[in-house]
Amino acid sequence: NALPIHDALGRPLRDLRISVTDRCNFRCRYCMPEEVFGPDFRFLPQDKLLSLPEWERLTRIFVSLGVEKIRITGGEPLLKNNIGEMISLIRRIEGVRDIAVTTNGSLLKQKARELKDAGLERITVSLDSLDEERFGVMNGRRFPAKRVLEGIDAAASEGLSVKVNMVVQKGVNDQDVVPMAKYFRERGHILRFVEFMDVGNSNAWNLKHVVPSRQIIERIHKEMPLEPVESNYFGEVATRYRYQGSEDEIGLISSVTQAFCGSCTRARLSAEGHLYTCLFASTKTDLLHVMREGKSDDELRSFIADVWGKRQDRYSETRLTQPAAAPKVEMSHIGG
Ligand code: GTP
Ligand code: 5AD
Ligand code: SF4
Ligand code: SF4
Repeated sequence: NALPIHDALGRPLRDLRISVTDRCNFRCRYCMPEEVFGPDFRFLPQDKLLSLPEWERLTRIFVSLGVEKIRITGGEPLLKNNIGEMISLIRRIEGVRDIAVTTNGSLLKQKARELKDAGLERITVSLDSLDEERFGVMNGRRFPAKRVLEGIDAAASEGLSVKVNMVVQKGVNDQDVVPMAKYFRERGHILRFVEFMDVGNSNAWNLKHVVPSRQIIERIHKEMPLEPVESNYFGEVATRYRYQGSEDEIGLISSVTQAFCGSCTRARLSAEGHLYTCLFASTKTDLLHVMREGKSDDELRSFIADVWGKRQDRYSETRLTQPAAAPKVEMSHIGG
């Protein structure tokens, strides 16, 4: 009995992206550069994080407003010790049609079984290169690509369907586009190429470092011919292509060169229960505070509906003409 709501630009609320922790064991330069997220950086203290029952309750309320898809993110979500419990709770909420996790894969080998047992069916792993030297530098911690690949294999052998996200940066890892495509095609996992974005305030983003998706398609097409595939559903973030003569696919996430704000149905919750209506938002709504004031479910529901109803975000469509006037939320705070 979901009550569909629409924002000020007519977009329904369909997806909820939940960040369960702002901590991460990597320091990817495009997300948490070590100079900013160093030993003195203050992460959220334990007592500021939502409890499992609070997550459950909020998710239930979002579902009653039209949310069908849940994505669990971080920081790194597998650092959270009760992640399995959280997934099984959320999965049981009536109306949730899809639940996925986005992880850096570093702990996946150990956690794949727990995730599967919790009822998870699919997972997205970030991996930017197969080259140990480049990957070690990109993740800021010299973490081996080999161990992420072992995590992916473990997830696949548990029967989880796996997608891989590769953030492509010119002059950093663009030489890895074709090798990554070949590697994941052979293993039957969908690889998605993500255009480098100006998330947060510290990743030194520059348009010159973005490799437009168009160029990625051309490079792969020369070696392995591609053809476009229809979207799976309204508002799908990735544009799909398949290798001709097969069912094997890739995806392109082109938020810089082909913004997709017009169909953006995503709300984001930070680990301390703040609601963000855009990945690049400078403002937020403190739902934890409202919840701890003792509001009823109905009151919370109309409060959230009101926030969504006023939403006008379309940052990716205007980033070049109207840069952010105030600091944006950090990627690691809301999980992308
Ligand atoms: P599927 O559910 O499998 O289609 O995955 P997804 O593409 O929704 O989620 P994922 O977490 O894998 O995100 C892939 C990339 O797209 C990440 O780099 C996200 O930061 C980026 N992304 C996801 N949603 C948005 C969005 O609303 N706006 C922008 N600009 N980027 C987004
Ligand atoms: N631009 C594009 N994608 C990014 N991610 C993190 N930072 C950026 C950025 N600046 C990706 C991660 C992960 C996903 C949630 O977002 O690699 O796959
Ligand atoms: Fe951690 Fe993911 Fe950010 Fe890398 S992109 S620092 S793995 S949260
Ligand atoms: Fe949605 Fe904001 Fe991304 Fe546009 S930039 S697609 S409004 S999250």
